[in-house]
Amino acid sequence: MNVLVIGNGGREHAILLALKKSPKVDKLYCMKGNAGTAQIAQNVDVDYMDAQAVKQFALAHPEIDYYVVTPDDPLAIGIVDVLEGIGKRCFGPTKAAAEIEASKAFAKELMKKYNIPTAKSATFDNYGDALEYVRSQGAPIVLKADGLALGKGVLICKTLKEAEEGLKEIMLDRAFGRAGDKIVIEECMRGLKYEPGEEVSVLAFTDGKTIVPMITSCDHKRANDGDEGLNTGGMGTFSPCPFWSRELSEEVLNKIMIPTVNAMNAEGRTFKGCLYFGLMRTPDGMKVVEYNSRFGDPETQVVLPMLKTDLMEIFEAVTDGRLSDIHIEWEEGACVCVVLASGGYPVSYRKGEEITIGDVGDCTVIHAGTAIKNGKLVTNGGRVLGVVARGADVDEARAKAYAAVKNISWNGMHYRTDIGVKYREG
Ligand code: AMP
Ligand code: GLY
Repeated sequence: MNVLVIGNGGREHAILLALKKSPKVDKLYCMKGNAGTAQIAQNVDVDYMDAQAVKQFALAHPEIDYYVVTPDDPLAIGIVDVLEGIGKRCFGPTKAAAEIEASKAFAKELMKKYNIPTAKSATFDNYGDALEYVRSQGAPIVLKADGLALGKGVLICKTLKEAEEGLKEIMLDRAFGRAGDKIVIEECMRGLKYEPGEEVSVLAFTDGKTIVPMITSCDHKRANDGDEGLNTGGMGTFSPCPFWSRELSEEVLNKIMIPTVNAMNAEGRTFKGCLYFGLMRTPDGMKVVEYNSRFGDPETQVVLPMLKTDLMEIFEAVTDGRLSDIHIEWEEGACVCVVLASGGYPVSYRKGEEITIGDVGDCTVIHAGTAIKNGKLVTNGGRVLGVVARGADVDEARAKAYAAVKNISWNGMHYRTDIGVKYREG
């Protein structure tokens, strides 16, 4: 099979690396890709947010058998619907199903209607009403722009003053554009043992009938060590989650995952693809923080290296609705991904810095924001590389990853030194 992956980042590079191991896969393509994906796939220079252009490309390339649509924005505009409409086989949800990520108001309504545990919330499209609600609830409180906002549309407000300013920013100043047409105002959840609350990401394959959770992982969202600094797209991940247990796994499957699949079916929005559950362990049990309609970035970078089963086989089973026939197996041990970012990220940073990569042992260097300029590997984004290592446990994996990081450099390179060190239940 010839397979095309849509997206440009580390997640897409990790998916391509997993697909490359499949005996079923002949040629790989990436739309648009980066310097790393170019090493294993043919990069295709088509704007994947232009549905017409994607359609024209697919019609002109009958040799491509299968499309994997990964990022949130092409899913939200219905690129899967477009491709399926011309008879292409795809991995990824339709526009109607991708709404579970594209609209936080929709996701909260769904959870309310089907009794899926999550933070209490209310949705508003009117500033005055929202302000009144915020004042009635007091702080701490969480404000979320309804639409896609590059992962930045969530404000955790510690004081009422912060909340009032946040509300103004989202609804009046339109800091996130149309994503702020509606706002979800949420109770601030607390963790069972940690402050801020302990979170785990569980990605799951689903064909709309069966749901199979993948191995768990944890993200580090803040820019600096000790969870200081601004929120980012993710500065590193590790797998598995240290506080995970068989009991939690059963609770999540029965109270959250299966009810979500059933709810989407009942709404006529059958979800097929990878459904991402961002969860918090609270004193009242596991609760949904967010859904994503896709693989997480950088969670995928630590989850897929642990997958023993052929990823292409799983993708096809999802497409064909026979996921229940497949037995999915995972490696023992742990995996860590340390993200190397441009200086200044997530605010302003320079592109075009030349990257040097020395000996990385048996680690995998995943490319996120890279390009080739004048024959040289250069930075081309905020998150530039992800160094992925496997080990018998998280400590062994992180030691390997950080040893490799020492041999990578560019002007302004920035990373966290504490990836993998959290939620250690002593
Ligand atoms: P989201 O984009 O919805 O994942 O939110 C980003 C981050 O904000 C989450 O990973 C949590 O750390 C935090 N967060 C979101 N909603 C809540 C909430 N209701 N209570 C506490 N923390 C939250
Ligand atoms: N790592 C969080 C996300 O992919 O949204």
